[in-house]
Amino acid sequence: MRKALVAGNWKMHGRVDQNLKLIEALIPALSNLKEAVDIVVCPPLVYLSQVNELIANTSIALGAQDVSRFDRDGAHTGDCSADMLADVGASYVLVGHSERRSEQNDTDERVSQKLACLLKANLKPILCVGETLEQREAGQVEDVIATQIELAISGLSVDDLKELLIAYEPVWAIGTGKTASPEQAQDVHAYIRELLGARFGSGFAKQITILYGGSVKAANAAELFGQPDIDGGLIGGAALITEEFTAICSAAANSPKNG
Ligand code: PGA
Repeated sequence: MRKALVAGNWKMHGRVDQNLKLIEALIPALSNLKEAVDIVVCPPLVYLSQVNELIANTSIALGAQDVSRFDRDGAHTGDCSADMLADVGASYVLVGHSERRSEQNDTDERVSQKLACLLKANLKPILCVGETLEQREAGQVEDVIATQIELAISGLSVDDLKELLIAYEPVWAIGTGKTASPEQAQDVHAYIRELLGARFGSGFAKQITILYGGSVKAANAAELFGQPDIDGGLIGGAALITEEFTAICSAAANSPKNG
């Protein structure tokens, strides 16, 4: 059975004092959920070490929001390698988030290079995929998702991908307050599982964790996480609010699928 996972993507938010307050509030609030849900926080790069210290001896795991596409140390100003992320305590890393794709030119080719770097460093990549509103309206959801996944994992074998997680994040639902309906999200999740099953076998498809992201909040989390192929969430805005994030983690932990 797949264990639920909820990851908080803090995006470009936080300060030393705010991070301290948020984590100090989250630790007791989340402490009784750890058996049922894996919880990850992804602060901005400069705060990874701070947050890593704050979550020491808790079950909260550390994630990063992006990684360099270069795997060897060298002249790559501003970049941070997968080995460096692992070195400061990260165990999960987002890759191909739509904001990186649209603002930082993360092409499918770069996403695939980054994914390979993460796997080489024994990190758990959370590969983000999702269609724009225009693509959805044009009936291209499955094509877009299939292309993004296939290009990201091209050349990798089923053994390479053991640590892979996928996050389905429709671009039109991110930060907009518009959530995909549980049925819309479930359809895409089921499609992703089917796609991976056809390529790597049903054993692989059954065990891979597929998260939903895009305006998840306390009020809609339970219904989303109750869908058979939605294994948890990638949470943006609501991850910065203790009560919201706690309620979302709790919805994942209490999903009837976990019982
Ligand atoms: P949101 O962001 O929850 O604020 O919509 C989700 C994400 O971008 O990961």
